[in-house]
Amino acid sequence: MKTPEDKSAKLWGGRFKEKASSIMERIGESISFDQKLYKEDLEGSRAHAKMLAKMGILNSTELKDILDGLNQVEEEIESGNFKFSSELEDIHMHVESRLTELKGEVGKKLHTARSRNDQVAQDTRLYVRNRIQEILLRLDSLREALYEQASKNIDTIIPGYTHLQVAQPIRASHFLLAYFWMFTRDLEFFEFASKTSNILVLGSGAMAGVNYQNDREFLASELKADSISPNSMDGVSNRDHLLQFLFAAVQTMSHASRFCEDIVLYSSQEFGLVKLPDSLTTGSSIMPQKKNPDIAELIRGKSARVAGNLNHLIGLLKGLPLTYNRDLQEDKLAVFDAVETVLLSLEGLEAMVSEIQFRPERGERSLKEGFATATDLADFLVGEKKVPFRTAHELVGRLVSECVERKENLFTISEEVRKGISPYFTGEEYSKAVSLELSTDKKSSYGGTSKSRQLEQLELAKQSIKSIQRNTK
Ligand code: ARG
Repeated sequence: MKTPEDKSAKLWGGRFKEKASSIMERIGESISFDQKLYKEDLEGSRAHAKMLAKMGILNSTELKDILDGLNQVEEEIESGNFKFSSELEDIHMHVESRLTELKGEVGKKLHTARSRNDQVAQDTRLYVRNRIQEILLRLDSLREALYEQASKNIDTIIPGYTHLQVAQPIRASHFLLAYFWMFTRDLEFFEFASKTSNILVLGSGAMAGVNYQNDREFLASELKADSISPNSMDGVSNRDHLLQFLFAAVQTMSHASRFCEDIVLYSSQEFGLVKLPDSLTTGSSIMPQKKNPDIAELIRGKSARVAGNLNHLIGLLKGLPLTYNRDLQEDKLAVFDAVETVLLSLEGLEAMVSEIQFRPERGERSLKEGFATATDLADFLVGEKKVPFRTAHELVGRLVSECVERKENLFTISEEVRKGISPYFTGEEYSKAVSLELSTDKKSSYGGTSKSRQLEQLELAKQSIKSIQRNTK
């Protein structure tokens, strides 16, 4: 028979006659991953202890002892002197049991009016709220890097693609700012996820509330929560905020992955539109000539992992009966992995964005070979010569076909051949109609790639960057 004084006794061991088997312990432990929650667990416990003192459950000496003990636990964990063991299951039991070792009987009072169910739900909320702040800072600086590169490349003309075929000339700033707006939406999505996380659930007890007049207003103000969950059953079992966090993470990673795919393609021999610095590429162990865009490929690969994390949580929650079920212990693995992966990927993206170099000479070749200004030529016939658009499309199509047959492009094909198709395909007017540079400036509709619209868009981006007042603690 074990006694409560046994070192190996569980904090919940009163009703058990036998020790947990090794497999129960190994399958049940979460300390190997939820030690990441230690700061939030201590934050929650400090607030809870102060509330217990307000309620008269702890006297002021006891409160002081508990707060001192919790500080000491924090120091031990941060200095690497804390002993973690799977026997104690999770971070909550580790903190409480070490507190009791340090401060004696008073440590055993801390869990009054609290369950691990509301405790872990609260810890995870605080964790997500705190880590989202870090993600937002990373998104801020990624957006600044995109803005800087866009400002530098306003006069760099590159091809824009549809169906991965050369479509129309664009300013490279337009390409970069497209990603700027994607990451702006991600930032807003994370802010939203942070708000849904920032709700007080502590004080819900195991699921039905607690047998004490607790003070949840006080807890909310201690933990800087925006509101208080009005239903204890929902409080302990709600993981919507984690879904939202993962939705935001998946959206961000899908944008990151698209950018990476563009970079992988554009830095290839065939496209040759951009160059990555040596420091962000790797060589091949066999092919001496290789310079591979691994960083972009890895981020593209990591986006699949984060999508998997979301799937993991959806699977976990679907069909789970109310309220707390131990399955929920597994929610943290998906969230922790997504947090680390998003932070690492955003850092990698920022490095790429800051260091990337465009090669407009290669872009020009593709634009010419790809007849990128064919639509501009058709629009010239429509605008200047009042030719109906369908007819103009047909005439330019014939010219392109003639070029392809003769291995020429719109710039090299002789005036004689052009005239044979349309009397308007001549002189200065024709050259202006097919010019790559002029093409971009003709796209002066709002949101287009003309220089004036680029300047306007950069200004909007700057305002968006400036509008953010991040509260860095
Ligand atoms: N480690 C557990 C988790 O992460 C804490 C809650 C345990 N609750 C329980 N009723 N066994 O979910």
